[in-house]
Amino acid sequence: MATKNLLLLLLSLFLTLNLVTAQLSRNFYAGSCPNVEQIVRNAVQQKIQQTFTTIPATLRLYFHDCFVNGCDASVMIASTDNNKAEKDHPDNLSLAGDGFDTVIKAKQALDAVANCRNKVSCADILTIATRDVVNLAGGPRYEVELGRRDGLSSTADSVEGKLPHPTDNVNQLTSLFAKNGLSRKDMIALSGAHTLGFAHCKLVFNRIYNFNSTTQVDPTVNKDYVAALQGSCPRNVDPSVAINMDPTTPRQFDNVYYQNLQQGKGLFTSDQDLFTDSRSKPIVNLWASNAKLFNQDFVNSMIKLGRVGVKTGRNGNIRRDCGAFN
Ligand SMILES: *[C@@H]1O[C@H](CO)[C@@H](O)[C@H](O)[C@H]1NC(C)=O
Ligand SMILES: *[C@@H]1O[C@H](CO)[C@@H](O)[C@H](O)[C@H]1NC(C)=O
Repeated sequence: MATKNLLLLLLSLFLTLNLVTAQLSRNFYAGSCPNVEQIVRNAVQQKIQQTFTTIPATLRLYFHDCFVNGCDASVMIASTDNNKAEKDHPDNLSLAGDGFDTVIKAKQALDAVANCRNKVSCADILTIATRDVVNLAGGPRYEVELGRRDGLSSTADSVEGKLPHPTDNVNQLTSLFAKNGLSRKDMIALSGAHTLGFAHCKLVFNRIYNFNSTTQVDPTVNKDYVAALQGSCPRNVDPSVAINMDPTTPRQFDNVYYQNLQQGKGLFTSDQDLFTDSRSKPIVNLWASNAKLFNQDFVNSMIKLGRVGVKTGRNGNIRRDCGAFN
């Protein structure tokens, strides 16, 4: 009897260990493709030289991927006649093609190396590329955890209610992030990604022209910023005209995003409310005045984001083409 119990104990220990080894690690590809990070970085660098949009587009793609069914590259899947995929849901955050192209280019570079061919998941390529665009835009460089598998499903329906909207307030954002195991602090840190990138005029019309039935302009928007926004986005402008998320240093990953909020220069309600709401305001003030601390906290939140809904074992595989299931 004692032996049987011991065996059971050993068996359960073994299973637990197996689970642990199936988790993410920093040197996951050390045996199969030891240069994976350098190969991806070179591809990302080349792509940025072609177009700066690579940077915000890749960062946004990662966020979108992780928030819908976990970081499993399900956002990369193209729709087919039988399946409308994630990327074609109207909430696709106006994902720019450059984010997808970054992953495709990096995958091509990996596939050109014999031992790396079809060894690295698209989800991991996107994770590495995202770290690199942050760093190449002047942000921190951090170690990424690897070992994700690519997801086996991608549907537009699954996007519903998973992504933040520009009109969300701190309560709504906090509960959305909580569904992914991310705290309010993580939410405020990851919102800092709006230090880069752009949005379309249609998403700010309500704040500068018809806030509510009695007030035309959202009173939390800085007066000069209102004038600038109305200049870039006149009433009859093409609603898809692009405006910078960070009006001050749009091409630099920095903590100026939080300084902007202190001055009423958050582009969306979902940005500015971080400063309006008394629960998030102290953190905004802290990061506005301490770039180093912001960088550290951003990195911690990115690593937490990278663990969301990760697939291992038979729940995923390594796609040969990031845009299609094997
Ligand atoms: C986003 O979704 C819309 C449909 O709602 C689609 O027309 C557009 O192509 C999608 N964007 C990307 C990058 O797939
Ligand atoms: C419109 O917004 C202003 C400023 O926030 C507020 O004082 C006012 O009560 C709002 N009016 C309506 C009808 O909601």
